[in-house]
Amino acid sequence: MFFLCVCVNSSEFASIDFSNILKSFLFKGRAFDITMLWIRWELLLMASICWQRGHTDNHGAKKSLGHVTVVIVGGTGDLARKYLWQGFFQLYADQVGKGHTFSFYGGALSTTEKGTPLLFDILKELACPAELSVERCALVKDQFLHLSKYHQLKTTEDYENLSQQIKQQLGQEGIIEAGRLFYLSVPAFAYADIAEKINNTCRPPSEAWLRVVLEKPFGHNLYSAQALDKKLSGQLKEEEMYRIDHYLGKQVVSKILPFRKENKKLLDPIWNKHHIERIEIVLKETLDAKGRIQFYDQYGVIRDVLQNHLTEVMTLMLMNLPANLSNSEEILQNKLNFLASLQHVDNSNAVVGQYQAYNGEVQEELNKTKDYFSLTPTFAGVVIHVDNAQYEGIPIFMTSGKALDERVSYARVLFKSNVFCVQDPNNVQCKSKQIIFYLGHGTLQYPAILLSKNLFKPELVSSGDWKEVTEYKDVNVLGLPLSDYYIQSPVTPREAYCELISHVFFGRKDSFISAEGLLASWEFWTPLLEGLSRVFPRVYPGGVDNGNLLNFQLKGHQVAFSHEAVVNVINPGAEDNFQVMQGKYRSSEMVSAWAQELVERLASDLLLAAEEAIREEGQFHLALSGGSSPVALLRALALNLYTFPWRNTHIWQVDERCVPHTESGSNFRSIHDLLLQHIRIPYFNIHPMPVHLTQRLCVEEDGGPTLYEKEIKKHVNGSSFHYILLGVGQDGHTASLFQDTKLENDEENLVILTESPNKPHQRMSLTFTAINRARRVGVLIMGKSKHELVSQLSRIKGESSKYPITKVQPKSGTLIWYIDYDALLG
Ligand code: BG6
Repeated sequence: MFFLCVCVNSSEFASIDFSNILKSFLFKGRAFDITMLWIRWELLLMASICWQRGHTDNHGAKKSLGHVTVVIVGGTGDLARKYLWQGFFQLYADQVGKGHTFSFYGGALSTTEKGTPLLFDILKELACPAELSVERCALVKDQFLHLSKYHQLKTTEDYENLSQQIKQQLGQEGIIEAGRLFYLSVPAFAYADIAEKINNTCRPPSEAWLRVVLEKPFGHNLYSAQALDKKLSGQLKEEEMYRIDHYLGKQVVSKILPFRKENKKLLDPIWNKHHIERIEIVLKETLDAKGRIQFYDQYGVIRDVLQNHLTEVMTLMLMNLPANLSNSEEILQNKLNFLASLQHVDNSNAVVGQYQAYNGEVQEELNKTKDYFSLTPTFAGVVIHVDNAQYEGIPIFMTSGKALDERVSYARVLFKSNVFCVQDPNNVQCKSKQIIFYLGHGTLQYPAILLSKNLFKPELVSSGDWKEVTEYKDVNVLGLPLSDYYIQSPVTPREAYCELISHVFFGRKDSFISAEGLLASWEFWTPLLEGLSRVFPRVYPGGVDNGNLLNFQLKGHQVAFSHEAVVNVINPGAEDNFQVMQGKYRSSEMVSAWAQELVERLASDLLLAAEEAIREEGQFHLALSGGSSPVALLRALALNLYTFPWRNTHIWQVDERCVPHTESGSNFRSIHDLLLQHIRIPYFNIHPMPVHLTQRLCVEEDGGPTLYEKEIKKHVNGSSFHYILLGVGQDGHTASLFQDTKLENDEENLVILTESPNKPHQRMSLTFTAINRARRVGVLIMGKSKHELVSQLSRIKGESSKYPITKVQPKSGTLIWYIDYDALLG
């Protein structure tokens, strides 16, 4: 103690070459004695605390703001080595002398003997922040090293011990505690356990704050994210959790909203569907996943990058601009509103690929046999649409991949051209108009916001730390030479982690992911992820050799690869058979093919039926079922058959769930989302089932079935639909007619209320009487999960009360089974 007090007298301090003294303590000889090192560290730690106070005095910030303890759990891991320690070093360099004192702990499972030198190796490599002089940096770095220490963090006792140490140290020094910052740089499965240990043993006194930083992945899908959220929220308060997405710390990303705000007047008139042609959000990498397959193979590119980084960028670009950019509640609400307005995406909106060497890496790193195939995508291209008046119809291309030709990330808004250039195509007015949020790398090599000069000259996004770039390198960025852009970029490049670590320190929660935002994003991505879990990714060689293999293009609201793959190494020959097969099934006609061809065939059969009905009666009455089977058909009808006579087609429902039509579980909602909103059909021709009457759902006295029956009788000649499309559940039910459905009055009624064994239980359904009166009935069965059912049904002759579908026997119409090869062959 005596040594310390002498040493750190603040006025003497400046004349002592502290850095060299400390260096000699620390770096003399690699084969140091651990005990000695500890003693020295303890002493130097004290010295540093005193020094920090002395330094505070030097800067005139007399008031101590208290002590902050930083604990990096996983402090010797890869992320900590690459970014975190550097970030905390920067924080220390920024904050030293401004009133806080600090100590830093790197924690991991290893013993102190093993962990200390590992941490030491990381710390000594720390680079100097650009704004510090060499001398100042040497000094600050020495201080930082002395304040940093390894601490084994494995058992509850280890955490208890850490907390004791912090208390003791501060007690002895009489320093008040400002807060504790735990950075969990560990696999997500360890979060709940560590959060519990922190909660039980490491909470600071009530006046001080606790902040726990969590790295993604936050779950694997909506359900696991909800489960994780539940576990964590049992231990930590929402305001204590800082879920990090390092893209939010990228300088350009953090300026998207300020840029929109600064330039609001000029952007408002063009930031909409009338002016924007497309939006691209891109993260291309040359790197592969080698060395991190253990993690990567469970996640893949969509979970690793699209669900978080790229979704955040998209949200900042398109959410309603908050009136107040410092109001985190308003920002969150606008983010949630935007995410809720996204149209549902599924397999038809995405293409996926896998670089060729990946599977070998999986076999090696996961100890799999040679016949093991991973379906994890390392490349994805997705098209997203927003369901609101401002942006509807604008395709948002989102793409990312490993082992591509270049490393670059950007988000750009490409505007429609409204000029017709008769001559002089190189005139600036004739060139493409775009705004690019360029996050880094690529041809430009630095983060920037670029605006085509033919748009407008933007305001500088932040006058102190951003500058206008007027020197133009001789490069092209996304189709235009640099000189065609107004460019602004940060004065000093800062690592995303440095930015975010400083935001944690200042409690700026809006730079982090909220629980609600996280779940909303998973809600959007989970259905696609589920759909893709059985899709074979296209195999690509990697790097420039990919050529045009991964290019993809829009087809309506869907996307597909632009070029046929030459070979698909993962799935040789599986899709070779494109034939449509015709035969008999349960004594009726059957059409069978691979799913896509089957759906196309059914769509064209429907078109023929519609044309015939309209020729004969001027109208076509089509009743559609709910459930998953008709989804692909509705899409095909919406997007591929522009010639379908919708003007004379009436759309009815076969069955409905007793939920409001606006809810995602409603069959009418899927018909609306998948079909109605894409076609031009008169409103009078749409006949949703009246499940919601007098502000309540499917109440007997409200007479919903009678109303629908009346409507059928009014419009449909002889109540005989031209076409009824049915699906079959795995239990053999069809429409909403289940094994236990009571059908006493079925003879008379066309529509009834029924009970499903599955939620939502209450349903409204056409009866067998209505179904069997139809001129044509198509039953669509798809997917391997229906194979067992298809086999069983084929063995049953006539009707079986166990399988309601067997009661579908049109009186004078025809029945056709559409069964895909997966369901037929298993
Ligand atoms: C990480 C992903 O979150 O982001 C990595 O796990 C990816 O797979 C990285 O490489 C990309 O970040 P950046 O900052 O290099 O664009």
